[in-house]
Amino acid sequence: MPFTIAIDGPAAAGKGTISRALAQAFGFAHLDTGLLYRAVGMKGGDPVAAAQTLLPEDMARPDLRGMAAGEAASRVAALPEVRAALVAFQREFARRAVGAVLDGRDIGTVICPDAEVKIFVTASPECRAERRWKELGEGTFAEVLEQVRARDARDMGRADAPLRPAADAVILDTSDLDIAEAIAQARAIVAARLAQ
Ligand code: CDP
Repeated sequence: MPFTIAIDGPAAAGKGTISRALAQAFGFAHLDTGLLYRAVGMKGGDPVAAAQTLLPEDMARPDLRGMAAGEAASRVAALPEVRAALVAFQREFARRAVGAVLDGRDIGTVICPDAEVKIFVTASPECRAERRWKELGEGTFAEVLEQVRARDARDMGRADAPLRPAADAVILDTSDLDIAEAIAQARAIVAARLAQ
């Protein structure tokens, strides 16, 4: 039976690390849906056409994790036609027989509202900017913090699929947790649901 884990939350809250760890621990497939929007944003040209014709090689670009891609992603992600073009792929991935972990902004609210587990991973903007700054190795801390705040505002303020926790999501605040503790808490949430 398919089992879907939806991990949502703002930029650099730890979604990616937690999602990869859960996928490995439970033998599930993992989809970082942010990479879809990053690839659309970096493809150039009309973003709707880019989303409709996204290819595996677009997802393999080496620059997708950088600040420019994050900024471009959050702009194209506000376009309803872009989001609509990416829905079917994400839903098909989620229903893989083996089980799947998807991380993003709207997995628990829009893409997989029936997900077996929903976790909303968050942390203070300063904590997230600090982590992202160390991870990126580009820009100043102030620039990264500014981008985190700007993306939060755009992601939460858009009309289509705004960033917010699903009503039935467990909130996991990682501000005062190290990565091992955050993973342990997420694993416990999933294990409890699998045991039901
Ligand atoms: O890794 P980080 O949390 O910084 O960003 P990401 O997950 O790669 O997402 C980049 C941008 O894509 C976000 O700021 C959102 O605007 C957008 N996005 C979205 O709208 N919906 C998703 N499911 C995933 C990402």
